[in-house]
Amino acid sequence: MTTINTIQKKKGIEKITAITAYDALFGRIFDSYVDFILVGDSLSQSFGGHKDTLAIGIDEMIYHTKAVCKGANQSLIVGDMSFGSYQNETMAIKNAVRFYKETQAGAIKLEGGSARAKIIQSIIQEGIAVMGHIGLMPQFARSEGGYKIKGKDDQSITQLKEDALALQEAGVFAIVLEGIKSEVATEITQMLTIPTIGIGSGANCDGQILVWSDAFGFFTEFKPKFVRRYLEGEQILKQALQAYIDDVKAQRFPSQEESY
Ligand code: KIV
Repeated sequence: MTTINTIQKKKGIEKITAITAYDALFGRIFDSYVDFILVGDSLSQSFGGHKDTLAIGIDEMIYHTKAVCKGANQSLIVGDMSFGSYQNETMAIKNAVRFYKETQAGAIKLEGGSARAKIIQSIIQEGIAVMGHIGLMPQFARSEGGYKIKGKDDQSITQLKEDALALQEAGVFAIVLEGIKSEVATEITQMLTIPTIGIGSGANCDGQILVWSDAFGFFTEFKPKFVRRYLEGEQILKQALQAYIDDVKAQRFPSQEESY
């Protein structure tokens, strides 16, 4: 079974792979292929139909994390703390503890840099493994007026480096670098002793993560530049669906073998 130690040992040796999943069915399919499965709050957008990740709550995140843990038992499972579930230390610890008590997740993830370092340290001191997330933080997209790439100017670069170091100091076992200019993500990756997991942050992060419905062509409303589609899922599924409909209408389904 993959642990946070397995993942940390891969830094500088082998690329770390990760994908999201939100239920037992896909948890089982992805299990053991990737080093870790993130039950991301991207669930809110990709499957909940919301415009951003803000609507989803901690109860829903725990429900979906529980389901993924039922399907997967080899890859490390990381559960995402939802927007508004870690506003202060007491609330953050309470909700992080819920993940460990109510699910089999090996770690949790939350967004924020130096401003959140103290809260993150307190969670880790309770015995909960934490993955950081800096750069483009979807939970801040509404207040920032959109999804903004980070590391484009000196101030942003300095802030990102400070954030990465503060999280490492706080004790996170890895950090997601999202939407960061490649050269800056490279510098951060070289500067840290813990692994970086990139999404839209170039090829030199220690690992990569993608949202499964983006990577396999099921979420087609828009395709960010960093997404590579490994499958045209929606198209293939619709062809299969049409074949089923045609069979029913033409009375080819069910056959005698498919009947009792
Ligand atoms: O919610 C999510 O899926 C994420 C990844 C994009 C890193 O945070």
